[in-house]
Amino acid sequence: MSAPLNVVILAAGKGTRMKSDLPKVLQPLAGRPLLSHVLAAADTLAPERICVVYGHGGEILPRAIAPLFAHLDLAWAKQEPQLGTGHAVQQALPYLDPEAICLILYGDVPLTRPETLREMTLIAREGAIALLTVRLANPAGYGRIVRNARGEVIRIIEHKDATPEELAIDEVNTGILCLPAAKLAAWLARLGNDNAQGEYYLTDVIGMAAAEGEKVIPCHPGATWEVLGVNSRSQLAELERLHQRNVAEALMAQGVTLIDPARIDVRGSLECGRDVLIDVNCVFEGSVSLSDGVKIGANCVLKNVSLAAGVELQPFCHLDGAKVGADARIGPFSRLRPGSELAEATRIGNFVEIKNSQVGCHSKINHLSYVGDATVGRRVNIGAGTITCNYDGANKHRTVIEDDAFIGSDTQLVAPVSVGHGATLGAGTTLTQDAPAGQLTLSRAKQMTVPGWQRPVKNK
Ligand code: UD1
Ligand code: MG
Repeated sequence: MSAPLNVVILAAGKGTRMKSDLPKVLQPLAGRPLLSHVLAAADTLAPERICVVYGHGGEILPRAIAPLFAHLDLAWAKQEPQLGTGHAVQQALPYLDPEAICLILYGDVPLTRPETLREMTLIAREGAIALLTVRLANPAGYGRIVRNARGEVIRIIEHKDATPEELAIDEVNTGILCLPAAKLAAWLARLGNDNAQGEYYLTDVIGMAAAEGEKVIPCHPGATWEVLGVNSRSQLAELERLHQRNVAEALMAQGVTLIDPARIDVRGSLECGRDVLIDVNCVFEGSVSLSDGVKIGANCVLKNVSLAAGVELQPFCHLDGAKVGADARIGPFSRLRPGSELAEATRIGNFVEIKNSQVGCHSKINHLSYVGDATVGRRVNIGAGTITCNYDGANKHRTVIEDDAFIGSDTQLVAPVSVGHGATLGAGTTLTQDAPAGQLTLSRAKQMTVPGWQRPVKNK
């Protein structure tokens, strides 16, 4: 039996440079908190326990995060005041299994790949200390990795405590390490704070380990972006683009055409069939699925949407909670709100809003209409400027339009009301009673012409 894995995530820091009321680890990357990316990576390793060390921002943090990871039974260790990274891990010790190996992550380093972390756990399971390091062209601010003549890691020196020779070292501590929990606890108990910042440094553990003859094995991420942290809005934006680029690459590798992989934002899950094309500046939120041959025009926003094969979305559409059948054509400038269900080969045009409605196959709503709380049959044509008056100021009511009906332009359907099979409504009708099947119904003031009428002329 290999040792259990416990994960500690440090997230008590203040994040002063974000200049925000929101705790730093709750700032969103790809639409979800930084900390949730770290938790998701930890989750892939199936740890027996995860403990988050929090402090700054107080209970806002567990309140925001716990519901997103209800299946994980997270432990929350409060660190107050925040006396350094070593002090932070000390707060987590009561929650750790002494038999476990302990992986330490930062809540503000969101993009570390699970493969990188898994490799570290394997090293720690052998009893060694796995330390994630990288070489940086500009190592300023980071702790430096000090090695002996044999190239073995002997300690970490923080930037503020380093000599000029040490500052010249370009291999830095990422902060991520993995080691047996019992040894960690023993070393943490001996930490002091006699250093430039008066803090209890977690990094001092490395020096203690090396002095006791323990093996410190440096590991390296596959790419530097895996270990980049967020300290400012600028770094957050940079990581957002890095992450989106990775998502874009994965989509393209899978066969999706992205007109510009630098101009797509996926803030949830995006599933694509074969030969999907996505034009520039589209945003995908929640869970979106695009079947084979779907085309998404420029500047569309899709949230919790499923589009069947061959659907074409023209530019500037906003879809939220909609389900669209095969070969439908939507847009430009269409808005589908939650509960919109469009069947095969429907046509929805510009400035049309649909909410909580079913539209049958081959039906068309091409211009300037509002269809809410309606059931629209097959082959129905809804003329420009048609409105379902679904709300009486207190309650919502349904409109039913049966197959093959033709709704003239500029019609108001005052719900509850229904239009029978094959019925025609004349343009400009305000329908307040059901329209019978197969007949023309209209409500309209009679047209007249005033004989001999003269336009007024301007007084001289
Ligand atoms: C730390 C490392 C440094 C490394 C760098 C990488 C130490 C002493 N130094 O420095 O070697 O190169 O990270 O980014 O560990 N935190 C707490 N409680 C605290 C202090 C920090 O939870 O009391 C958390 C922060 O929220 C953050 C992480 O620990 O997620 C790192 O803290 P930070 O202050 O950024 O450490 P650095 O000084 O950058
Ligand atoms: Mg830092």
